[in-house]
Amino acid sequence: VRIYVPCDAAALALGAERVAKAIAEQIAARGLDAKIVRNGSRGMHWLEPLVEVEVAGKRIGYGPVKAKDVVSLFDAGLAIGGDHPLCLGEVEELPFLKRQTRLTFARCGITDPLSLDDYEAHGGLAGLRRAVSMSPADVVKEVTDSGLRGRGGAGFPTGIKWKTVLDAPGDRKYIVCNADEGDSGTFADRMIMEGDPFVLIEGMAIAGLATGASKGFIYTRSEYPHAIAAMSRAIDIARSAGILGTSVLGSGKTFDMEVRTGAGAYVCGEETALLNSLEGKRGIVRAKPPLPAHKGLFDCPTVINNVISLASVPVIMDKGSAYYRDFGLGRSRGTIPIQIAGNVKHGGLFETAFGISLGELIDDIAGGTASGRPVKAVQVGGPLGAYFPRALFDTPFDYESFAAKDGLIGHAGIVIFDESADMLKQARFAMEFCAVESCGKCTPCRIGSTRGVETADKIARGIEPEKNRELLADLCNTMKFGSLCALGGFTPYPVMSAMTHFPEDFVPTPLIEA
Ligand code: NAI
Ligand code: SF4
Repeated sequence: VRIYVPCDAAALALGAERVAKAIAEQIAARGLDAKIVRNGSRGMHWLEPLVEVEVAGKRIGYGPVKAKDVVSLFDAGLAIGGDHPLCLGEVEELPFLKRQTRLTFARCGITDPLSLDDYEAHGGLAGLRRAVSMSPADVVKEVTDSGLRGRGGAGFPTGIKWKTVLDAPGDRKYIVCNADEGDSGTFADRMIMEGDPFVLIEGMAIAGLATGASKGFIYTRSEYPHAIAAMSRAIDIARSAGILGTSVLGSGKTFDMEVRTGAGAYVCGEETALLNSLEGKRGIVRAKPPLPAHKGLFDCPTVINNVISLASVPVIMDKGSAYYRDFGLGRSRGTIPIQIAGNVKHGGLFETAFGISLGELIDDIAGGTASGRPVKAVQVGGPLGAYFPRALFDTPFDYESFAAKDGLIGHAGIVIFDESADMLKQARFAMEFCAVESCGKCTPCRIGSTRGVETADKIARGIEPEKNRELLADLCNTMKFGSLCALGGFTPYPVMSAMTHFPEDFVPTPLIEA
């Protein structure tokens, strides 16, 4: 019998380690022939720790399990999928999972993240095997034809980025994986690194073969210790198995990789600041051009892709570009792992084809707020994303539809707020966040964000509110068009959307004298 207890950081934070220990004690005490497998998370946070048991080829779930529940679970016959108040039935049949289209996250939560046998048994390495037999240009074409766009947020076509690097002259080229996942409410990168690290290794190896890069780096944050441990261990296993090294899968082509840990700065998720940090310099933004694709890490042509972009490549190479491109809407092809967080009943990871409406995601799939109060606003795309009111809930989830409504999907994080949220405070927070995280290189961001905080405070205190609202909008305009990178350039999105959609919060309430 295999009993699955997640080792994902979210499950661990909710007590999965204690649950695993209690289960091990019960297995020993009852003399059962059972093995505990530490899987990744299925991405249903309200059910974590989610314990699963494989019975007759089906996975029966129990959750959320606490250590104190374990004895009663075994008394009820956990090892044979017995009934219990915490029993959820067949996990694959839970509506939150059943409604998803899992391509990138196909294995996450199902396999043992560090078992190469499990990985291969569930379709792993098929994409790399195919890539090895193809010319670099054909691999690039396959990725281009799939319509895959950068999942870090900007949505730049991945195949075109790879072609730029393939065509760039140079003996040394690099693949850099941006795993500096910093957006509020996002966890897709972490979940892949902890739950299916081989898929990222496979994606990076394919990128290396496609562009002529022989070395890869995963740049991640120190706040992700479990992801760092899982990735590092998986890289060692892949190297021992000949997937990485001087002859990738016996092809005679070299590709190897390692994990590098940042010291923790939001701006190091910006690709050029990331490169500086990777080179051991201060994480400060570089002016573009030159693009990293021409002159990136150590001035060599470099592919920088987000974790999810790279982890989506193996399924494209395995099943073909047409299979992937068939999912989606307009110019947004394939699937997107949406991360639902904040004041929400059913938060977690929901991978689906582009095109689902925001309203369906929030009201139907996520079940509204955890507080039970009406949803007031949702912020999509991290701390630099716009706040959308209910009036915009018919917006389809894709790059262009959000841009048309002055928003962005970014790294596909959604943070939900109920009616108690004060949108002026949220606008002030955006400016404060920018002031704290600014690298200081350009004036609109460095100075503008601090002036933005002061101006928001003046509005809150009723000091010339009309004039200061105009001033705040003017400042946003300067930051949007005058900043060197997305940190200063995108801070206006939350501020302006809060002002536009929730003007009532920007009218100060008169001070009541004590
Ligand atoms: P960008 O639009 O400047 O560039 C997108 C990517 O395409 C870059 O890698 C760039 O080097 C590349 N590129 C552009 N033209 C190219 C060409 N002709 N050939 C080859 N490559 C080319 O956007 P940027 O500043 O890199 O990213 C901004 C996005 O980052 C925002 O949309 C925001 O949502 C997102 N973001 C994501 C965060 C996260 O935690 N994942 C955190 C903060 C922001
Ligand atoms: Fe640095 Fe801000 Fe300018 Fe970006 S916008 S380069 S973070 S000062």
